[in-house]
Amino acid sequence: MRHLMTRSMNRPIGPLPAASILCLTLLALCASTALAAPSANNTAKDAEVVTWAEHVAPLLFENCVTCHRPGQTAPMSLLSYSEARPWAKSIRQVTSERIMPPWFANPAHGEFVEDPTLTEGEIDLLGRWVAAGAPAGDLEKAPEPPTFDSDWGLGEPDAVFAAPAYEVADEVEDHYQWLEVENPLDEERWISAIEVKPGFVEAVHHQLTYLAPPEATIESVQSGAGSLDLTFVGGWGPGVAPLEFAPNHGMRMPAKSKLFFQMHYHKTPGPGSGGIDQTSIGLHFHDEKPENVVTTLWLVDPILDIPPGEANYASGSSFVTPHEAVLFDYTPHMHLRGKSMKFTAEYPDGTQEVLLDVPNYDFNWQLTYTPVEPKVIPAGTTIRVDASFDNSADNPSNPDPTARVRFGEKTTDEMMVGFIHYTFTDPAQQADMPSFIVPDRMKAQFEQIEKMREQQKKQKAEAEGESGESGDGR
Ligand code: HEC
Repeated sequence: MRHLMTRSMNRPIGPLPAASILCLTLLALCASTALAAPSANNTAKDAEVVTWAEHVAPLLFENCVTCHRPGQTAPMSLLSYSEARPWAKSIRQVTSERIMPPWFANPAHGEFVEDPTLTEGEIDLLGRWVAAGAPAGDLEKAPEPPTFDSDWGLGEPDAVFAAPAYEVADEVEDHYQWLEVENPLDEERWISAIEVKPGFVEAVHHQLTYLAPPEATIESVQSGAGSLDLTFVGGWGPGVAPLEFAPNHGMRMPAKSKLFFQMHYHKTPGPGSGGIDQTSIGLHFHDEKPENVVTTLWLVDPILDIPPGEANYASGSSFVTPHEAVLFDYTPHMHLRGKSMKFTAEYPDGTQEVLLDVPNYDFNWQLTYTPVEPKVIPAGTTIRVDASFDNSADNPSNPDPTARVRFGEKTTDEMMVGFIHYTFTDPAQQADMPSFIVPDRMKAQFEQIEKMREQQKKQKAEAEGESGESGDGR
């Protein structure tokens, strides 16, 4: 099947030769070839001594250095023997406990482009390397470390939007900040790829990018009603790769759109820990409107209300697709009490399929899961997100088990959002694609908000009509 959308890992790819395009679509398989050929060395015969040069370097270059290299979030670089050697025991521990590389999808459901999970054989190999005293081997024969010579993994963007510089103070441990980002473009554009470049990497925990109408302000987007006008474009967190839509797919950026970044800063507070952040987003555009429009579905529960001490609070949201749809990726988003999230398709014939199951959600990793094949689902399918939250004292991340917790922006509030990039298969049906999906019990409230807005619009139009041109005649 043709691949519709893909993520490339955060490394330079420049102009794409055909082989690289294939690599992008088969990233999991090709990463080794692209970064560190040959990688057939990831197994070593029983008697053989495991060395950095022959076995370990290819393995780490393939699975670890997207994060473990200079200028990235991870605490140390693993690009050379001398850098990796002091970490050998630690590497054995975190890989054998499957803490690294970070990944949270239940392997029973779906195959994902980003999946960095090591095989038992690879974990065993690292263990044997450490047991042998972590030898270098013949460094002459070690593979060249992958180069990351361009600032932008996807190459120079068509437009770069930089947030205003923001000072993250020494005292900050956790801080959310909305930033409005200048957009000098006054024509509609079609986004073909998105890459976020965090500024103060040590403190940027994650970043979310939204498009909003020109009249939006930080105050309006933070309030319930204004947030309905936001379009989620994409985000960044450690290990999150740039997002590329397929050649004929793009996301609409209306004329004069405003861009808003929601920044979450997180660091160990203390003297000298602060700094200036200036995060930017690079956008690549199609020359003209692409054949297919991609939009983001938000499956959200803005009225969750978790009692103190509750160990298993259930929340969720669902959407029935009116047309055949293609789902490109899934991004679970919760905060510190987030425990699990599952995306399920309930087909019109009554059968169900789990699209993504994250049984042990970890707020520290804001990962996106891109199925190896984009998921095509027939009209009438319900896409359901089921989440659970642990507000008990048994949750080690829980800042306060005695608190009643509701939806909000702070880490100590909660969120329940399942983001999905999607399109309808038939371009004729792509003019008006649903985006913000709330649970049924909220729909009445939203209808009221809509009515209020309609009324306000009418009043405004009437007021304008009186002061100048004739109105609609009534
Ligand atoms: C998605 C990014 C990412 C990938 C991929 C990744 N790491 Fe990490 N790693 C981190 C970050 C960030 C930390 C810091 C841990 C934290 O703050 O939770 C870390 C921590 C570690 C530590 C512990 C360091 C300490 O301070 O004790 C080791 C060891 C480690 N990683 C090894 C690996 C190995 C080996 C791989 C590949 C098999 C790998 N990592 C893949 C991001 C990554």
